Amino acid sequence: MLSTTFVLLAALATVSKAALTRRVVCSDGNTVSNEACCALFPVLEDIQTNMFADDDCSDAAHTALRVAFHDAIGFSHSNPSMGTGADGSIFIFAETELDFDANLGIADAFNLEAPFIAKHNISVADFIQFSAAVSLTKCPGILRPTFMFGRVDATFSAPDGTVPEPFQTVDDILARMGDAGLTPAEVVALLASHSIAGADDVDPSISGLPFDSTPSVFDTQFFVETQLRGTLFPGTGGNQGEVESAVAGVLRLQSDSNLARDSATACLWQANVNNQALMASSFQQAFAKMQVLGQDVSKMVDCSEVIPVPPTLAASAAQAFFPPGLTHNDVEQACASTPFPNLPTAPGAQEVVPSIVQDPATNGACQDDGTDCTAQFTKQPA
Ligand code: HEM
Repeated sequence: MLSTTFVLLAALATVSKAALTRRVVCSDGNTVSNEACCALFPVLEDIQTNMFADDDCSDAAHTALRVAFHDAIGFSHSNPSMGTGADGSIFIFAETELDFDANLGIADAFNLEAPFIAKHNISVADFIQFSAAVSLTKCPGILRPTFMFGRVDATFSAPDGTVPEPFQTVDDILARMGDAGLTPAEVVALLASHSIAGADDVDPSISGLPFDSTPSVFDTQFFVETQLRGTLFPGTGGNQGEVESAVAGVLRLQSDSNLARDSATACLWQANVNNQALMASSFQQAFAKMQVLGQDVSKMVDCSEVIPVPPTLAASAAQAFFPPGLTHNDVEQACASTPFPNLPTAPGAQEVVPSIVQDPATNGACQDDGTDCTAQFTKQPA
């Protein structure tokens, strides 16, 4: 009798769960829990095949990630004229916004993405954030990003001054990010993005200078290497926003160096060292928050299931290390409460980390000062 009751209850639970999770079949055969998400599959297929092509967490993926930040951060809780957040304004008003110093190089993203935005009937804002989420799935070590769908496009441009610059003080950077709603812990979490990034314009003489020795892997090396004593410049040095790095071929931003050493953020920074799980989960959460800044989430649909599953990073590959020739003695300890973790030194001789190869699709009519950054975006607010 007891077992019959149990079987009945279990069957009822299964039926009600099935009713709650009834799936919709899209016209292309994909299944989703909300029909609105069907619109993303043609975009996904097109950008996977034609925009990212065979990019394995390299230049195209980095480019798509950076522009998502620069668009979203055009928002302020205290001043509505600072923009409406993740609203596509960086492309819709590209001729204005790309002329701002902090957006130098975002023309690459416009050249890469604009032809695809014009082809698809989703908002510019959604396209930018969707492409960024998909770009992350190229990078081993990332946790599968979530994705909310249904952003409303901007009706006016963000003004100059919303995007932090690498020569600003930690206080100024945290104040700007805080004004947009991001805590210091979330700022550090988001800067894990610099683990899969590099600079094209900080040192204008060399393109694609990586921020750590593993720019195509979302690992914790960025947090290790920014804490090491700087001894060299990858190029001639002396550029605004650049300080000495510890590894040949790697460029260190002044802002990353300062955030690693400032008492407000040093322990948050160091906590990521050799802690892949923490770095990946805190980035996943902070990134989800960043992607909807300024938008009304209650009117959006959770389409996370459309985002591809990223490649895994083997535990052995996630082991942080000191670059060849460097040891614990090269650490500039800044976190007062916890010692820097002991790490092995990678074997072999010191080598120059190669620059990130630039994707030709990032070249086009759109210029770094915003000139000719126009496209026919015929989007209606979602
Ligand atoms: C908070 C302060 C930040 C500052 C001061 C900063 C500054 C910079 C600078 C100066 C560059 C190099 C640009 C160039 O010369 O080409 C860069 C690259 C990059 N940043 Fe940031 N960034 C910040 C936060 C973020 C955040 C929150 C994200 C993403 C969530 C991000 C993603 C990237 C990516 C992916 C690149 C590489 C772009 C490429 O290779 O094309 N950054 N950042």
